Amino acid sequence: MQVLGKVLAPATLVVIVLVASIGGRSGAAPATSPDPMIERGRYLVAFGGCNDCHTPGWRDSGGTLADSRWMTGGKIGYRGPWGTVYPPNVRLLFAEMTESAWLFSTQTRGGRPPMIWHDIRFLSMDDRRAIFRFIRSLGRAGSPAPDDVPPGIEPATPFYWVLPQSPAPRRP
Ligand code: HEC
Repeated sequence: MQVLGKVLAPATLVVIVLVASIGGRSGAAPATSPDPMIERGRYLVAFGGCNDCHTPGWRDSGGTLADSRWMTGGKIGYRGPWGTVYPPNVRLLFAEMTESAWLFSTQTRGGRPPMIWHDIRFLSMDDRRAIFRFIRSLGRAGSPAPDDVPPGIEPATPFYWVLPQSPAPRRP
């Protein structure tokens, strides 16, 4: 028994020291406060209507989908004289794109409807940066949106017609 005690004692001591050091380390860890830039990006994406087009099921959910589903790309096309375009999966796109490429395209790009490039240009540089950082912080998720379809070709997916319609002529 005494021999066992002699063997156990140092082992117990090691365990106690280990537990104390692990506990001490986690106790001393600084509280992770959310990055204000990323918080602002989330706010701008939510209010900017980005999820309405880029997050499948957003509208039907009444805007209640978790962030993990945000900006994963639309599978319903927007069809007009420009062909049929799909809101890309921005989670995958931003994982590859640099922040400066995003800032450049928000300044210069006149995309095809209905992407709101003309509205994004009203945002300050810092706000556009915040949008990028928030979406990038979400990480990769989902699959790429379908490829765009050229004008005059029938898309294989569901689509919205984005064309003003004239009212049907009234019968006399
Ligand atoms: C009304 C629908 C709609 C809304 C709202 C919308 N988008 Fe888009 N977005 C699209 C479509 C469609 C495309 C593809 C058309 C194109 O290539 O220009 C697109 C393209 C993009 C791209 C791809 C750029 C690239 O380099 O290929 C990014 C990034 C993007 N949107 C981000 C956003 C963000 C951020 C918001 C909110 C501030 C937003 N979108 C709001 C429909 C929308």
